Amino acid sequence: MTVHFIGAGPGAADLITLRGRDLIAACPVCLYAGSLVPEALLSHCPPGARIVNTAPLSLDQIMAEIATAHAEGHDVARLHSGDLSVWSAMGEQLRRLRALGIPYDVTPGVPSFAAAAAALGAELTLPGVAQSVVLTRTSGRATAMPEGEALENFARTGATLAIHLSVHVLETVVKTLSPHYGSDCPVAVVWRASWPDQLIVRATLSTLETAVGAEMERTALILVGPALAAEDFGESRLYAGDYDRRYRPVGTHPRFPEGL
Ligand SMILES: C[S@@+](CC[C@H](N)C(=O)[O-])C[C@H]1O[C@@H](n2cnc3c(N)ncnc32)[C@H](O)[C@@H]1O
Repeated sequence: MTVHFIGAGPGAADLITLRGRDLIAACPVCLYAGSLVPEALLSHCPPGARIVNTAPLSLDQIMAEIATAHAEGHDVARLHSGDLSVWSAMGEQLRRLRALGIPYDVTPGVPSFAAAAAALGAELTLPGVAQSVVLTRTSGRATAMPEGEALENFARTGATLAIHLSVHVLETVVKTLSPHYGSDCPVAVVWRASWPDQLIVRATLSTLETAVGAEMERTALILVGPALAAEDFGESRLYAGDYDRRYRPVGTHPRFPEGL
């Protein structure tokens, strides 16, 4: 018996890996994390599967579901939105499973920042403009930010920021970032990226607050940084005609002679 943690993707039912879909289809028990996991994914469950929405459950109750499945020898598909490596609450479940000696594995999913960037048609790392993406959030009612991870600290880097769980504190975000990025810095808010009702707002730090409507609450990502609207950036050296590289040797004395 194994608990399969599966990244369910950002919302569109077809943005799940083939491995994730096949695991759902093979598990007689499916635990899914509430409204952010698209219901359509549950149609991959086998007939008669026990399907439980864990949104109203405590960690103890979730573990009780898993322990029951374990006792019955039933594999479990455990679905969380996006990818499991960020803000999935997977860590605490894995810790309990390790303590109980219950086997598990993890199948990655499409994270919401990637779905939002795709919706914008944006590369977040442009040569000479930004080469880092910071996945971050602001502190919430249930989660304080560790010391050192204040938004202001990341803003000093000038990197592209992908700010999660923060659309309700837009004013604070704008106030914190403006001194570092400048009020004309491009910003985008993508609400429910990849869902049929996805909304996109493009603005600058100075116009953002008026541009974002009240309907764009909760499931929205704020992307900030010059890479979001840059046209004046260099081309990547990797594909430059004169760039000598292993897969495309150039010149009379290539660095990587063919066959090496
Ligand atoms: C609890 S976190 C889950 C993150 C998820 N594990 C991931 O890989 O993106 C929820 C936050 O992720 C962002 N988010 C999740 N799905 C989204 C989507 N489809 N569109 C925009 N933002 C999304 C929002 O900032 C939301 O408040």
